[in-house]
Amino acid sequence: MGRKTIGLAVLLSGTGRTLTNILEVIESGDLTAEVKVVVSDRPDVYGLKVASDAEIPNFVVKPKDYGFTEEFSKAVTYKIEPYAVDLVLMAGFLSLYKIPRKYEHRVMNIHPALIPSFAGKGFYGHHVHEAAIKSGCKVSGCTVHFANNLYDSGPIISQKVTPILFEDTPDSLAERVFELECQAYPEAIQLFADERLQLVKNRVKILDRDKERSTSVD
Ligand code: GRF
Repeated sequence: MGRKTIGLAVLLSGTGRTLTNILEVIESGDLTAEVKVVVSDRPDVYGLKVASDAEIPNFVVKPKDYGFTEEFSKAVTYKIEPYAVDLVLMAGFLSLYKIPRKYEHRVMNIHPALIPSFAGKGFYGHHVHEAAIKSGCKVSGCTVHFANNLYDSGPIISQKVTPILFEDTPDSLAERVFELECQAYPEAIQLFADERLQLVKNRVKILDRDKERSTSVD
């Protein structure tokens, strides 16, 4: 039986490095997905050019144009729902997206640290890696998780780890973590496409490839 191809919406605020990676992995045949639509919360960011170059419909929805997170989130949903979207990906999206019922447990985020450490409002970009080094932690990494309505929070799907070296700068650590992200996000998306992610309370069980979906909740 062939693998299911799922439709993706990608939300971003910056360079679209994660979008670029996802498009490359799709192109290589290792991810059975198609990016249907891209939304940025900022105009003139490189991620929009990445989308345009790939002929993916793309839109800007600015939080400033809406009074509250709810209204902003509705505007984002309004842009993506005309497309056949099975999964919404946050890919360096810096605004809070209040998840509508339609996309409950269908929004993923990737964070460049091992959540719940160095996560939440204000922990983005180099701030994350600076804090991780400063803490004296010996490892960092990345986390893919289902998003909820808080920053960098929700059931964890996967984590990949790298040592923090004594000589590390935020940039050198960021580079290694991003390499891990480039593997972790496509792998998690493929698990979703293959219906191998089962939510059990606040934890995610990864089902064996050929096993029936378990109905137990232990
Ligand atoms: C990635 O490091 C990801 O962990 C985080 O945002 C970064 C990508 O955003 N969520 P950008 O393309 O550098 O703006």
